[in-house]
Amino acid sequence: MIDSKTKLCCIIGNPVEHSFSPQMHNSGYKALGLNFVFLAFKVTNVEEAIFGLKALGARGIVVTIPHKRAVIKYVDQLDKTALSIGAVNTIINDNGILKATNTDWIGALEALEEKTEVVHKTVALLGAGGAARAVAYALKKRSTKVNVFNRTKEHAEKLVNEFKLSAAYGLDDIGKIANSDIIVNTTSVGMKPIDDSPIPIDCIRPKHIVFDIVYTPRETRLIRLAKKVGATVVYGDKMVLYGGVRQFELFTGKKAPVDIMRKALLLC
Ligand code: ATR
Repeated sequence: MIDSKTKLCCIIGNPVEHSFSPQMHNSGYKALGLNFVFLAFKVTNVEEAIFGLKALGARGIVVTIPHKRAVIKYVDQLDKTALSIGAVNTIINDNGILKATNTDWIGALEALEEKTEVVHKTVALLGAGGAARAVAYALKKRSTKVNVFNRTKEHAEKLVNEFKLSAAYGLDDIGKIANSDIIVNTTSVGMKPIDDSPIPIDCIRPKHIVFDIVYTPRETRLIRLAKKVGATVVYGDKMVLYGGVRQFELFTGKKAPVDIMRKALLLC
């Protein structure tokens, strides 16, 4: 029951109505009998939101689009991971000190590794924005060969140089994707309400592992095309799950009930 000792965790974003984090975290609190509650707040003024939550003693803040970079200047400590990725998705309030990190990379890596080995594989990374940075950071930990394909080739080149990846390509070279083992979509193409795929079906082979980090809808067009070809698919909500599991543990100090949280996500 919510009482005067209940600890508050929340997600801030805009929009935030689509977020599955409240269901996922609250199901975990309930399963473990923790006196925590997780709410979603639509936020436009990041500075006021962060200072307000700090003043109220909120224990944990999950940060989503479009505030992942903006929050950096309002936290007290930024760890090396958040610094390398250049974005924050998790803030822990440790007795009035706001400590920021990023769990997106863990989410992406665990989602992929549930289906395939990643070490020494070749990945076609689609996109070169914030989400691509988290995935690039994850793949660097596994000595994976990463080729970046992006609409704006200069953005791909910048990402390749910064993370010391293999090669940068524009969309003219999209045919080269066929030589990869794994395809990861980090662009927003395919997100509701636009039913579109970042690559055509003829780039996809049955040998491919296709991971789409877009999770609204669950069956994106890219996932549907991959299934049609007979490729193995990895759903975007797995990244939400495994990144969320880490957040749960950072906020509560308890081992997360992963199966309960997975079930809660599937009901969303
Ligand atoms: P996020 O932080 O969610 O990754 P972002 O930083 O805005 O968002 O990056 C979005 C990525 O998706 C970029 O790589 C973008 O390509 P550009 O660098 O050319 O802008 C890519 N993207 C977005 N819309 C796209 C579209 N319609 N077709 C192809 N790529 C798209």
